[in-house]
Amino acid sequence: MRKKLRFKDKVVIVTGAAQGIGEGVAIAIASEGGKVVLADRSDLVKDVVKKIKLNKGSGEYCICDLETFAGAKKLIAFAIKKFGRIDVLINNVGGTIWAKPFEEYSEEQIMAEVTRSLLPTLWCCRAVLPQMISQASGNIVNISSIATRGIYRIPYSASKGGVNAMTASLAFEQAKNGIRVNAVATGGTQAPPRRIPRNKNPMTKQEEIWYQGIVDQTIESSLMHRYGSIDEQVHAILFLASDESSYITGTVLPVGGGDQG
Ligand SMILES: NC(=O)c1ccc[n+]([C@@H]2O[C@H](COP(=O)([O-])OP(=O)(O)OC[C@H]3O[C@@H](n4cnc5c(N)ncnc54)[C@H](O)[C@@H]3O)[C@@H](O)[C@H]2O)c1
Repeated sequence: MRKKLRFKDKVVIVTGAAQGIGEGVAIAIASEGGKVVLADRSDLVKDVVKKIKLNKGSGEYCICDLETFAGAKKLIAFAIKKFGRIDVLINNVGGTIWAKPFEEYSEEQIMAEVTRSLLPTLWCCRAVLPQMISQASGNIVNISSIATRGIYRIPYSASKGGVNAMTASLAFEQAKNGIRVNAVATGGTQAPPRRIPRNKNPMTKQEEIWYQGIVDQTIESSLMHRYGSIDEQVHAILFLASDESSYITGTVLPVGGGDQG
């Protein structure tokens, strides 16, 4: 069977591309002909670009902190300077930093969760709009989570609920400019050990118990009672990022074995 080339000559930004789901998405899009801009605040993103180039794909990295608007603007300016346009933006930065009941979170921790899992998507959407509006075309895919209904990560749940709201409303507002906005609500995803930890501090015994609570709840809430693979997320994300989904906008697609979030 001939390989699909759904992203041939398309300029695609993937944020949080140094590992995990973002890495999988960046590699898959490059293998389908995309010109990928891999954004991350970790230098390890360079290794992913090397992998892409070894496979004769097109990949450029941009080191930036997407928790700031300045970082998001730097990324968009970089992509425009390199390639002259932006066809697709995949907002993947996020992930819960702590696992515990809400009453255990401090004010600083709540702010850190929202800053990690809501603001990068908000900043990047805002930063890319002038370019997409001037092109009269664009496609944004936000990586959300089925944890909008889940225990022991309420600030993260709230952040991803915000991502879903932004997806629906921005799609509504920008359809007239030829811009589509969708999200994938990712379910529990099996991944290799993280080279870049979400939380540098080792877990206490109590935190391990709470974390296990998240794992158990995720498996129980999934009709299939299992975690998914990175590939299972990548397939759904690429569908929304490609023209195959050209009549879909404002949608949050749950990919969690039947867990609707
Ligand atoms: N892994 C899961 O089980 C799961 C489940 C549901 C939803 N998700 C969502 O999927 C997405 C990816 O998850 P993952 O587990 O692959 O993530 P991860 O934590 O393994 O990797 C995140 C990447 O983002 C980068 N990053 C973090 N903060 C950044 C910043 N401020 N600026 C630039 N880069 C930054 C990190 O360096 C890292 O490379 C997240 O939005 C997460 O919420 C994941």
